[in-house]
Amino acid sequence: MKIIAVVSAKGGVGKTTVTANLSTALRREGRNVLTVDLDPQNALHLHFGGDPQRIAGTSRATLAGEDWRDVGFVSPTGVVVMPYGAVNEDDRRAFENRLESRPRWLADNLRALDLGPDDIVVVDTPPGPSIYMRTALSAANLALIVTLPDAASYATLPMMEGLVQTYCIPRPDFIDHAFVINQVDNSRLLARDVSQIMRADFGERIVGIIHQDQSVCEALAFNQSVLDYDPRCQATQDYLACARSVAAALSAFGPAS
Ligand SMILES: Nc1ncnc2c1ncn2[C@@H]1O[C@H](COP(=O)(O)OP(=O)(O)OP(=O)(O)O)[C@@H](O)[C@H]1O
Ligand SMILES: [Mg+2]
Repeated sequence: MKIIAVVSAKGGVGKTTVTANLSTALRREGRNVLTVDLDPQNALHLHFGGDPQRIAGTSRATLAGEDWRDVGFVSPTGVVVMPYGAVNEDDRRAFENRLESRPRWLADNLRALDLGPDDIVVVDTPPGPSIYMRTALSAANLALIVTLPDAASYATLPMMEGLVQTYCIPRPDFIDHAFVINQVDNSRLLARDVSQIMRADFGERIVGIIHQDQSVCEALAFNQSVLDYDPRCQATQDYLACARSVAAALSAFGPAS
């Protein structure tokens, strides 16, 4: 099992969209994929045809002492989806307190699922430092930092690298951190310039460049991944290329337990 934490300092950069479409693309590449929503927005399952009224999820299951196997569902494209679940404010705070007191909550629950050595877990998180980001980074083999090609996002990258340093680097099973530049519009000079600067700064750590593509937003409106909604569009090709780079980064390290 390899765990990828999808993180960003800024909100709205595309973490949930990247989590959903990268999971689908990795599945297309033949991998078994489990995706975990660690964001109280509980939006990830909507990318997989989840029922908007669905309330089951890992937060409720944890508070009720239930097994994760009872809250997940398999998407039409074969990705296993663990929603956060719908909780009221008191339960959300109780769940976050539970996470604070159980730093290995994510790793322990995933281990109990008996996934294979090549299976991939992709974890979505809310923006910025939080107990959710800490939980995801503390279990991750790969930290995937999502950023937009603009100055505001670029300015947050040292902070994100600092968080990775704090929560991931001391662990021997941590592979590396990598970047996905999302919503690249090459008709814009600034996007081209910032992407070029990021390439110079981070080189091979940039494992994905996802172009801005209307099909991405439309796919969510149809509760689908962009790969299913528009197989020929630019973003679909970008996600497939990203999945291959991510799989290569994971396999270069060898199977992990
Ligand atoms: N490549 C893309 N092209 C066009 N629109 C995109 C692309 N990627 C993401 N979006 C849009 O950007 C918006 C924000 O995406 P998303 O919700 O995934 O961000 P997020 O980082 O998860 O947000 P939050 O920080 O609130 O969790 C959505 O409307 C999504 O459809
Ligand atoms: Mg999100």
